[in-house]
Amino acid sequence: MMQYLFLKKSIKQYLKSDIKQSFKNTKQGRRTKEVFMKRVKTGIKGFDELVQGGFPEGSSTLITGSPGTGKSIFGLQFVYNGAVKYGEKGLYVSFEQRKKDLIEQAGQFGWNLPQLVKSGKLEILSIPLDNVTRKTIDEFKKKIVKEKVKRLVIDSLTTLTVNAPILSSVKEMSLSEVVSESTVLSPPIIGDFLVKHFIYSFIESLHELEGVTSILVSDSSTEQGYMSRDTVSEFVCDGVILLNFEALGSEFTRSLLVRKMRQTKNDEDVHPLEIGKNGLMVHEVPH
Ligand SMILES: Nc1ncnc2c1ncn2[C@@H]1O[C@H](COP(=O)(O)OP(=O)(O)O)[C@@H](O)[C@H]1O
Ligand SMILES: [Mg+2]
Repeated sequence: MMQYLFLKKSIKQYLKSDIKQSFKNTKQGRRTKEVFMKRVKTGIKGFDELVQGGFPEGSSTLITGSPGTGKSIFGLQFVYNGAVKYGEKGLYVSFEQRKKDLIEQAGQFGWNLPQLVKSGKLEILSIPLDNVTRKTIDEFKKKIVKEKVKRLVIDSLTTLTVNAPILSSVKEMSLSEVVSESTVLSPPIIGDFLVKHFIYSFIESLHELEGVTSILVSDSSTEQGYMSRDTVSEFVCDGVILLNFEALGSEFTRSLLVRKMRQTKNDEDVHPLEIGKNGLMVHEVPH
């Protein structure tokens, strides 16, 4: 019981400091910061203008939606354009798809990923979940620093945390190694709180990587009132983008909404989204 309360308290503290941080961003500092802030363009047609020209450099953005809404394509397009149009090195880490499948998907839009990998502008890591340990995560963070990666995609946070075998009771200890405080907890008590705790420290650690702008893919929430499947990453990330693919009468329609973007006066409309022959395109709201 004591251990449960301890973890609950520390999560609350995390939440509080997150809220404090948001206030900091909206008060003083913001005006000066906004003027000089570098924007990281996605190059996705119709998107960057919704967020004052791009993601704030060094920020983390959650992309959430149900399967098939275009989250991975968004991530691929972010690193592809980064490398081709803006000369920024990208790292795409997938826990869901094989490298070959990602390359093929990108190829359908005319994006030649193998060429970019060859020329050192892009790296794709496909990591089977069974192999994920603290070491895996440390290794790709080291890679980011060493290889001066500017754009990072984690696909997906849900697979890494909620569905990952590292969270099953048998392997819980490997995750508790990642979250130092939780090593004082015994495995049966950890469960859901450990996942949340891990997500906080993981995303916070990405923020510490200087100048790295990241996209974290997540399944949408199964609980009402939350955006991500894990229910906490929307608080820690600087931005949240919601993708949808739902029935409107007899037709299915894709849409995109910027739900949150710190230090940004973001657009607040639900925009039609299209997956065209050159990838994603965000359209104006029809009048
Ligand atoms: N070449 C293509 N042209 C048009 N739509 C495509 C193409 N390739 C994939 N799609 C659409 O994109 C969806 C997959 O997008 P993806 O980004 O992988 O979804 P997720 O949100 O699950 O990551 C498919 O279900 C399909 O509807
Ligand atoms: Mg996907």
